Amino acid sequence: MLLSVSDLKRTYRRGERMFSAVEDVAFAMDGKDFICITGESGSGKSTLLHLLTGLLKPDAGRVLFEGRDIAALSDGERSRLRNGRIACVPQGYSLLNNFSVLDNVRLPRCLYGEKRGARAETLKKAERLLARMGIAPLAAERPQNLSGGEQRRVAIARSLIADPALLVADEPTGDLDPKTATSILEFFAEIHGEGTAIVMVTHERERIPFANRHFVMDGGRLWEE
Ligand SMILES: Nc1ncnc2c1ncn2[C@@H]1O[C@H](COP(=O)(O)OP(=O)(O)OP(=O)(O)O)[C@@H](O)[C@H]1O
Ligand SMILES: [Mg+2]
Repeated sequence: MLLSVSDLKRTYRRGERMFSAVEDVAFAMDGKDFICITGESGSGKSTLLHLLTGLLKPDAGRVLFEGRDIAALSDGERSRLRNGRIACVPQGYSLLNNFSVLDNVRLPRCLYGEKRGARAETLKKAERLLARMGIAPLAAERPQNLSGGEQRRVAIARSLIADPALLVADEPTGDLDPKTATSILEFFAEIHGEGTAIVMVTHERERIPFANRHFVMDGGRLWEE
């Protein structure tokens, strides 16, 4: 099993009261799954993804990735995981403005796991990914000079630089036009075919068929359709 989640719970405080953003979530996926999660705004989707990638710690329950409890890892081991075997495309803005687009894409590889003498190879790969995202001419730009959709595509390219076993993407095509969005989803289908498991949150129902499993989230609870 690639990822196995049990009795997962995460509460937040709102005013005087606590409420569960994620409540009793359990599921498992193997390396061949492409899971799509839909659900209303505020239903807990992003919170769940943050728990899956170890950005947030659960109040109860466990996330096992390749048999290892993510919450039990050290901070260093967790960041190494997130820049290696697990990749994230977060919902909000996540690029570093004092680096070029190309360097943003290379970064996970430079921080962790770049073998000696592999710099040229990483560069080439980053350029290939930018080309696949349709934004090769933007490589030398600073992220703040890019449109929202272009920034989103840089974040997708960055997430794939380390050949992750699991890609976790939060509305990756939310700010893209339909044609670009479809081309990105086709690319996801391709890397899924090559052996990358995917968990993707989307609001666009027409994206659901790209996945082989569909989950719905409502009020912090998750179930499979
Ligand atoms: N840091 C936080 N502190 C308190 N409440 C939070 C925090 N983060 C999220 N929430 C609340 O938890 C609930 C779930 O939020 P979450 O971001 O997971 O929703 P979502 O399903 O991703 O929504 P959207 O589709 O709008 O992105 C919401 O009611 C939100 O207001
Ligand atoms: Mg969200």
